[in-house]
Amino acid sequence: MKKYIGIDLGTSSVKILLVDTDGQIIKAVSREYPIFYPQSGWSEQNPIDWYNATIDGLGELLSGVDKENVKGISFGGQMHGLVILDKNDEVIRPAILWNDGRTSKETAYLNEVIGQDKLMEYTANIAFAGFTAPKILWVKENEPDNFARIRKIMLPKDYLAYKLSGVFATDYSDASGMLLLDVKNKCWSKEMCDICSINIDTLPTLFESYEKIGTLLPEVADKVGLGKITIAIGAADNAGAAIGTGISSCGDCNVSIGTSGTVFISQDTFIKNECGALHNFCHANGKYHLMGCILSAASCNKWWVEEILGSGDFSAEEEGMSELLGKNNVFFLPYLMGERTPHNDVDAKGAFIGMRPSTTRKEMTLAVLEGVAFALCDSVELARASGVKIESTKVCGGGAKSKVWREILANVLGIPVVRPLIEEGPAYGGAILAMVADGEYNTVEQATKKLVKSKDTTYPVAEIVEAYKKKYETFKKLYPALKDVYKEI
Ligand code: XUL
Repeated sequence: MKKYIGIDLGTSSVKILLVDTDGQIIKAVSREYPIFYPQSGWSEQNPIDWYNATIDGLGELLSGVDKENVKGISFGGQMHGLVILDKNDEVIRPAILWNDGRTSKETAYLNEVIGQDKLMEYTANIAFAGFTAPKILWVKENEPDNFARIRKIMLPKDYLAYKLSGVFATDYSDASGMLLLDVKNKCWSKEMCDICSINIDTLPTLFESYEKIGTLLPEVADKVGLGKITIAIGAADNAGAAIGTGISSCGDCNVSIGTSGTVFISQDTFIKNECGALHNFCHANGKYHLMGCILSAASCNKWWVEEILGSGDFSAEEEGMSELLGKNNVFFLPYLMGERTPHNDVDAKGAFIGMRPSTTRKEMTLAVLEGVAFALCDSVELARASGVKIESTKVCGGGAKSKVWREILANVLGIPVVRPLIEEGPAYGGAILAMVADGEYNTVEQATKKLVKSKDTTYPVAEIVEAYKKKYETFKKLYPALKDVYKEI
């Protein structure tokens, strides 16, 4: 049976899957790479680390596998990161990542001087610090020599696709997060290029996520023992995860609890969305989606359990926690890296509130899980307020493995939470996109209908939903109360 490779270029690691055309995972490997925080609120990675980790991981993935039947590769990648290459295709500086908050000045310039109305007209979105265009302005202002050397601007997974295929390409879902794409008309915005002082030729050629951009370069093919197989450009990690969890009809929702947390809502057509706080982006199936993003999700729990509690045993920390749902008076604000949706505030920070001498370790751990769920609920509420009906949601990402976190989510959002059989959203989505690009399936929908299956559903419980409704009302008052204080810290 033919097999396809899905590569999820994440923030902490690259996860690589080998999947057959029946959707079975044959093998999975991952490789970690460092993330650098050169200053408070900044975050960077070396693109070459992504490439080396991927090549190394592919070596392990393919060892002992019948390579003849491996027919294609595609990607899901961390969004928004700025990768810049010079005239010799050398990386000019480390990539500035999606959760980097250095661009508050440039973001304010875009939103306030250029103006949100104009940005909405050009791109269908407003500026957020994590988006790519403010990063380009930051390099222009702070590193003019580097800016002058720019010949190619690309996103993280596009760098991998370029190294693997030699084709300078991106896809509409990932390009949407650059604030350089006219999302409605699916073309680069001339106005945004002018605002960022870049030439449109420095931007990659645009493809649908399921399109073949080329084949594996001979030198890479030799290294990993494959032939000239299909390379499809793939998708932004969230759009890839939506493919991997079967989110394609209007109103279908997926919540991802990874390093970031996202609420992804599929749309059939482009709809002018007045609520700038939600991103209005292209989907990987040729359609559109709305998305809210919080910058720290499973990373809050990792920080709390590993760094602060020093335990690292996530299941032990969560033991017996289900009994406490709806009864906890401790609150946690999960803004460890600042916040995107809905506050758009790089100065926001984490906070616990509500402790008494009787407060237990378990209650504080529960507060962390609840705080992330409430912050995700902010995005769901924004979508509901703009008329979108969300009847249930899929869930994926590392946090989705926790039973109690799925229970909290179902009760905070007040809807059933469905766990797909295969939880590796972006990598699985990447493999599916490669299958479509290679002609195994005619459309993304045809592929996901056949391949994506559900594992179990967590249903909300009326009295816990009521308790969480109350607690959420209080949660919503905390950020406004702390907003000014955050600036002083
Ligand atoms: C989405 C976002 C994050 C990254 C994480 O807008 O910034 O979800 O894509 O990889």
